[in-house]
Parts: sequence; structure tokens; C-alpha cells
Amino acid sequence: MPDLSVNDLDDHVRSVLVEIAGLSTIDELVAAEPTLLGKRSGLQQLQRSLGSLDLDDRKTAGAAIQEARRTLEDALAKRRAVLAKDERARALERDRLDLGDVVVTKVALPLNTGHEGAITLTQRALEDVFVGMGFTVSEGPEVETDWYNFEALNIPPAHPARGLWDTFYVDLGSPETVLLRTHTSPTQVRLMEVAVSQNALPIHSVMPGRCYRRDAPDARHLSTFHQIEGLVVDRGITFGDLAGVIETFTKAYFGPEIESRLRPGYFPFTEPSAEFEITCTICRGAGCRTCSQTGWIELGGCGMLDPAVLLAVGIDPDEWGGFAFGFGIDRCAQMRHEIGDLRALIENDARFLRQFS
Ligand code: DAH
Repeated sequence: MPDLSVNDLDDHVRSVLVEIAGLSTIDELVAAEPTLLGKRSGLQQLQRSLGSLDLDDRKTAGAAIQEARRTLEDALAKRRAVLAKDERARALERDRLDLGDVVVTKVALPLNTGHEGAITLTQRALEDVFVGMGFTVSEGPEVETDWYNFEALNIPPAHPARGLWDTFYVDLGSPETVLLRTHTSPTQVRLMEVAVSQNALPIHSVMPGRCYRRDAPDARHLSTFHQIEGLVVDRGITFGDLAGVIETFTKAYFGPEIESRLRPGYFPFTEPSAEFEITCTICRGAGCRTCSQTGWIELGGCGMLDPAVLLAVGIDPDEWGGFAFGFGIDRCAQMRHEIGDLRALIENDARFLRQFS
């Protein structure tokens, strides 16, 4: 670049402005910047030459150079913005999909995707706890025969204990032989039969599923409800193992401050039998309406396998023993999420359901 003098300043600014206007890409701009405004620029050269001027001239010339610098910086920034915008537009054009004949539909409202409900979530959480304790998960049919739901469980026809389970019968085959299972216990029988036929004892399994009873629904009962059954068939099992599993489960699912207790009970398929209760999670044991002022809530039943049940499926009770338990999944959801009335679980009120998303 030829030597510049302060008198050339206006011409210099004009020619640099022309150069800036001629830059056509950001890359070009970046490459040109040092010669237009930076270290290798005419302005910088002029700045250096100021030293040879006397004081007054130096001041005037210095101010003129600053002014020129601002003008050029401004022009360069504007050109940079224009080029950046052009480049973005070019990139968009390049990447645009050619939609051809694809029809784009506009949806007026954001789509509301669904999610699993409280019962499914509770069932999954319960399965996780038991799988963590070494149990497998098995399932059985909801439409059952009298044999699996009652007889194989040591409840022969006309046994008074049948009154514990008000049954929906299905109009199939001979009257009152096909039914909607009243509990998940028939799946125990099926599982033991399979294990015997495959020579696959011992069994450590839980069996969740839907059950039905001819009960009028209220705050703590539904006529369609869910249970999870547990079955252990092994050698040398004691009542202490059963109590330990129940206690470990209670703490793992409900939290360390919730206790479990077993009270003597009666079920035809276990001997001895017990009712399984936990500290009421609503009042934490103090006594409230939900627990009828007792501080305890009954979750289900359990006990040591009755030899008659083992014999019904061909397992030798002298060699094998075990325990079983069964309790309500809906009741667990109620206790864990403090749901006042169980019927909320099946009413499908979106405001209730959204709480579990
Ligand atoms: N099936 C019983 C009911 O629905 C609950 C139950 C009690 C299951 C004792 C068991 C058990 O496996 O051993 O009332």
C-alpha cells in the first residue's frame, strides 16, 4: 500500500467503504479485516505517522482518524450482519426438504399423549421390589375353572369358606364351573403344575393380575380389582421366612417408617394362616377414619402352604414346603398415594389421572 498522509483520509475512507460493500461472504470479510481496519490497514499506518506532526496537528489528525475508524467499523459490522443473514437463508434453502406431494396437516390443539395409570404403575413398582428380592413374575388367566379357583386350593364344593368369595360365574359349560377368578391364588396352582411337569422346583414367584368379586364397590373395595400373589415352594422353609419376606417388602415399598404385622387368620389353602397388616399410611398409626381408628390397614393374607394343596398338584409335602401370600394392588396404590376413595382409580377423571403422569 502506498504511503498515506492525513490529507488522503477522506479518499481512503471512501475506497475502504467500497471494498467493504464488495465483500460477498463472511469468509472474505474475515480475511480482509486486517487490511481494512486492523494491523495492516491504512488507518493504522496513518496512526503511526502522527508522531512526526506537531502537537496541534497531531490532535486534529488523531480525532479525524478516530472518526474514520468508527465509520469503517460501523460499515463492517453492518456488512457482517447482512452477509450472515444471507448465508443463513442460503443454508436453509440448501437443507429444505422437498416435500413434493406430502400433505402437511395442522393440528389445532397440542396432542395430549396418554400415560400409564396408577394401578399399572403400582403393579410395576411391586414387581420391581419382588424381582429385587429374587422372585420371578408369572401370570395366569382371569377366566378360571372352579378347580383352580377353589377345589385345588382345598375349598371343595359347598365348603363354607366359599362364602368369603362372592363369585361371578360365566355362562359356559356346566353351570357354575367357569368363573371370573376371585383372587390370584389359582395362578399358584397353575405354576406348581407347570413346575411339576417340567421338574422345575423350587418356585419363588409373584403373580399379579385382575380379579373379580360380586361386591358392592365402596371407598375400600372394587368389584374389579387387582392382587399380587406370592408363592415359595422349596425345602426347609419356615414361618420366619414368610414374615421376613413380608417385612422386607413392606419397608422396600412403603418406606422404613411403615411396619408390618401378621395376625392369626384363616384361609383353607394355608396352615397356619395370617392376615397381613401395615401401619396406616394416612395417619401413620395414630388412628383415623381410613383405618377405623386402629392405626393398621389390612393388605392381604398369607400362610404356610397346606399339604392338601401340594398333594392336589402332585408335590410331596414331606419333601417340599413353602408359603404363599396375596394382597391388593389397588389397596397398595391407595396407601402409597393417599387416595381417599378407591373408586377414583376407575372413574377416569382426567384431573385424577394426570397426577400420575
Ligand atoms: N387369596 C386370598 C384372598 O383373596 C389372599 C391370600 C391369603 C392369598 C393367603 C394367599 C394366602 O396366597 O396364602 O383373600
